[in-house]
Amino acid sequence: MTNLSNKKKTPILPKHIAIIMDGNGRWAKQRMLPRFMGHQKGVSALKKIVAHCSEIGIESLSLFAFSTENWQRPKDEVSKLMSLFLKLLQKEVQKLHENNVRLVIIGNKSALSKEIQEHIIKAEYLTAKNNGLTLNIAANYGGRLDIISAVKKWQKEFPMATLDDLTEEKLSPFLSLSDQPLPDLLIRTGGEQRISNFLIWQMAYAEFYFSDELWPDFDKKSIDKAIESFTNRERRFGKTSEQVNQC
Ligand code: IPE
Ligand code: IPE
Ligand code: MG
Repeated sequence: MTNLSNKKKTPILPKHIAIIMDGNGRWAKQRMLPRFMGHQKGVSALKKIVAHCSEIGIESLSLFAFSTENWQRPKDEVSKLMSLFLKLLQKEVQKLHENNVRLVIIGNKSALSKEIQEHIIKAEYLTAKNNGLTLNIAANYGGRLDIISAVKKWQKEFPMATLDDLTEEKLSPFLSLSDQPLPDLLIRTGGEQRISNFLIWQMAYAEFYFSDELWPDFDKKSIDKAIESFTNRERRFGKTSEQVNQC
């Protein structure tokens, strides 16, 4: 049995929080509204969570907005999600910039519309030098694809290398978010307890926090609760509790 009294409290904030924003559809269904309205409400929740994380000094926040698997949803839902993403890029970037937020979009951008791609380039360029919160939005992102792309990039960079040369350290720089601390806290809303192909490499040692709240209901208080849970955990990274508490 775990001796809870031995647990060392780490009153440190997570440097990098990753969130699987799930439950928009169910939020709408409960209210007999179209799914799209759940996504709209989800965007409002997203804006508040971004502002809060920026205020409390989180270094990186990674939000899962659209997975490589989400293309399989009905066409109409996909196109509405894309419109919402475009609107966010058109209307919110200036405000993010004023708040010193650096915006980064990860995922396979080439499958997104030209218009979205152009806005992404502009937004990333405009905010590139900001040193407040780094906001990573995962759009058409898949963790497996991330790993495969990294291997391909590594091979292109080192054409003479063989697979025997490949190590975790050598591959890491080619994966998404390699310039940032690894996610230390993963939050998933909506009651499901799965990773759904999000940042599978990067989250090898993230602490998981699952909330039954649907994403549109998730607010400041909810994320503070998740952060508090994180600060009470002992991260051992394969070592023993005694080793961790020695340092
Ligand atoms: C998450 O909410 C948003 C996206 C996947 C884009 P869902 O749309 O998955 O909501 P549920 O899971 O159907 O309630
Ligand atoms: C994960 O949610 C993807 C995003 C939040 C963008 P899903 O609702 O697509 O995940 P599954 O299908 O329930 O695993
Ligand atoms: Mg879902």
